[in-house]
Parts: sequence; C-alpha cells; structure tokens
Amino acid sequence: MRIIAITGAARGIGEATARHFAAEGSRCILLDIDPAAEQTAASLEPQGLYLPCDVSSRASVEAAFAEIRARFGGLDVLVNNAGIEIQGTATELAEEDWDRILDVNLKGAWLCCRSAIPLMEGRAHPVVVNVSSVQAFVVQRRVTAYAASKAGMNSLTRSIAADYAPWLRAVSVCPGAVDTPLLRGNLAGFPPEQREAMLRDTEGIHLLKRLSQPAEVAAFIGFLASPAAGFCTGQAYRVDGGIGVLLEGT
Ligand code: NAI
Repeated sequence: MRIIAITGAARGIGEATARHFAAEGSRCILLDIDPAAEQTAASLEPQGLYLPCDVSSRASVEAAFAEIRARFGGLDVLVNNAGIEIQGTATELAEEDWDRILDVNLKGAWLCCRSAIPLMEGRAHPVVVNVSSVQAFVVQRRVTAYAASKAGMNSLTRSIAADYAPWLRAVSVCPGAVDTPLLRGNLAGFPPEQREAMLRDTEGIHLLKRLSQPAEVAAFIGFLASPAAGFCTGQAYRVDGGIGVLLEGT
C-alpha cells in the first residue's frame, strides 16, 4: 500500500486529492493546521489519518514527519498543497502578509520536502507533487505575493527534481480557478450581485468558460504521482481550462 502525505487536506483540492488516493487504496496522511481535517480523515476510514501540522513551522513539520516515520517507516508521495492567498499590490501589501504567504506557500513546501525526502529513499516510485498555480505564469491584479510564491514553487520543483534524480521525481501542478473554499473566500467580502459578476468574469477567463472542480485537479495529481507518469519530472503542468491560449480580440 502506498503511503501518501497531503498538506492542506482538510478541504478543497487537498481533500479531493486525499479522496482520490484513498479510492485507489493508498494510505493518506492529511497534514493540516485546521483540526477539521480530522473529520475529513475519518470519512476516509480506514485509509485516512490526520496529523496536525503548520507547514510554515519547522518544529511542527519535523514532528509530523517523525510521526510518519514512526508509524509507517517511509513515504511514497508528498503533495505540497497547503496554500493561502492574501490580495494586494506591491504598495498595498503589509510586510507580515508578504511573509505569511511566502512562509506557508513556499517555505512550507521546502520544509515538507526537507523532512519527507529522507523518508522516500528506497521506495518504489517516490514523487513530490507541488500544487502551484497558473499565476506562476500569468497574473491577476493584486496577487503580488501569492504569484511570487507560486513562481518560487515551480523553481523549487526544478531543484528537487535536479538534485534527487534519478530516484525521485518532482512535478508542479498549476491549476486555473478551482471551486474551493479559498476561491469562495476571496469573493466573500463583496455584495452578492458583485460576487456573481466576479464569478462569471473568473469563469470567462478560461477557454472552457467554467471553474475547475477539485476532483479534476486531484485526478491529474494522481496521474502524475503514478508510475504511468514515470518520465515526468522537473516540469510544471497547467490544468487551467485554457487560460491565456487565446489572444483576446481575435
Ligand atoms: P483551501 O483554502 O480551500 O484549502 C487550503 C487548505 O490548506 C486548508 O485546509 C487550510 O486549513 C490549509 N492550510 C492553510 N494554511 C496552512 C498551514 N500553515 N499549514 C497547514 N495547512 C494549512 O484552498 P484550495 O483552493 O483547495 O487550494 C489548495 C492549493 O491549490 C493552494 O496551494 C492554492 O494556492 C492552490 N490553488 C488554488 C486555486 C483555486 O482556484 N482554488 C487555483 C490555483 C492554485
């Protein structure tokens, strides 16, 4: 049975990813700062296990992966999915918001790699999957720190792939807009009619004119983590409904 660790698995893409791997028969370790992940893990019984973890804290990450070592003796797949978004231009962003975004999204992924990779040595097909974003390539307005963190994550993927090849693969998955609590939360501060218009605008930036469902991203993560994708490493794969393919006005 493969052992899979997924950060940020209480809800959204992380939860869908845990469900995908559990349905395949893998053991899923849900690492999350939110204790609600306990219920998500319980709903995956007997495949799910919740371990509390703040990915931005070295002590917390080290404790969680020490627990994985003690319980399972190794790890097959790490999915670095935990992420936050705080909006702001370069001049609007507070220093603590910049730091928090980079600490969770980028440093968190590095800390998890640092603790997980030693557990992956000697496993049959070990893989690190970093959940990045299409905003590593093209940006919306006012996502300065978030987009920088995701571009950094794609660079982290390349370094992990280069430094640990050929025994370990590392890939980035870069979704477009996915219908999750993160996306809904970004809209929550606006009046309902404006919210609906913003949602339609967001759908409209994709060639496919809709949001992605978390299960679609999870299925792609599942493929990249499988031996069937055994020649994929170091690259960032967009799951973005065709954002940016069409030159507007043509
Ligand atoms: P979400 O907000 O629905 O879920 C994020 C999860 O991460 C939550 O369970 C939360 O508790 C956890 N988390 C937050 N901070 C944490 C920390 N310090 N330590 C451990 N866990 C923590 O988000 P969603 O939408 O499912 O996003 C998942 C990933 O996908 C993120 O990295 C996000 O940047 C990325 N993404 C999301 C897109 C979207 O449109 N929803 C688009 C592109 C990328």
